[in-house]
Amino acid sequence: MIEVNSTIKLRTVVEEDSDFLITLLNMEEIKNNFPRSVPITKQSHIQFIEKLKQSHEYYWIIEKNNIPIGTISIYNINYDHNRAEWGRFVIHPKYCRQGIGTAVLFAIINHGFNKLNLHKLYCYSIPTNLIALNLYSKLGFTIEGVLKDHIYINEKYSDYIILGLVKK
Ligand SMILES: CC(C)(COP(=O)(O)OP(=O)(O)OC[C@H]1O[C@@H](n2cnc3c(N)ncnc32)[C@H](O)[C@@H]1OP(=O)(O)O)[C@@H](O)C(=O)NCCC(=O)NCCS
Repeated sequence: MIEVNSTIKLRTVVEEDSDFLITLLNMEEIKNNFPRSVPITKQSHIQFIEKLKQSHEYYWIIEKNNIPIGTISIYNINYDHNRAEWGRFVIHPKYCRQGIGTAVLFAIINHGFNKLNLHKLYCYSIPTNLIALNLYSKLGFTIEGVLKDHIYINEKYSDYIILGLVKK
């Protein structure tokens, strides 16, 4: 469990989160930002949670006053190079623009560098997701490259931006 502040905490996802996650991740304004070809179902979520248990990934539910409001994850952890990807970052639209995303990402950066002892964190975003790009750059991430036509999303190919942050 990660305490972000007095009201926000991150706890590990469990099978019982499936209804919340299916509703959240299949929302139009959210799924359009992620390169996923098929909608999430209860079965695919349970399979995902099972795989997660055998992996070294972290997948947290963001809670505000103990109510689930979003998700965030650290994965592709590579201790040969002390780097990891983070993502699966979603906050329910009802709770957006209240500074929660900033606080959560700040906590994830701190956790990655100071608890997991990583040297570098990186993530991806589509070029049109200006909210995400603004937020990531506000916390120090810089664009390291643009992968051309890297993903198929919303029925067309799209560039994919990679952003990185190195521990100071
Ligand atoms: C990205 C996301 C998690 C941000 O969460 P949030 O709680 O709204 O973020 P914050 O309230 O802390 O806002 C952080 C910054 O984002 C930017 N931002 C937020 N809303 C914005 C908007 N409508 N337009 C432009 N920038 C915006 C601003 O830089 C803001 O900082 P500021 O308020 O100091 O100007 C949320 O918008 C979300 O879930 N989006 C859908 C899923 C998604 O796109 N995930 C990322 C995939 S790469």
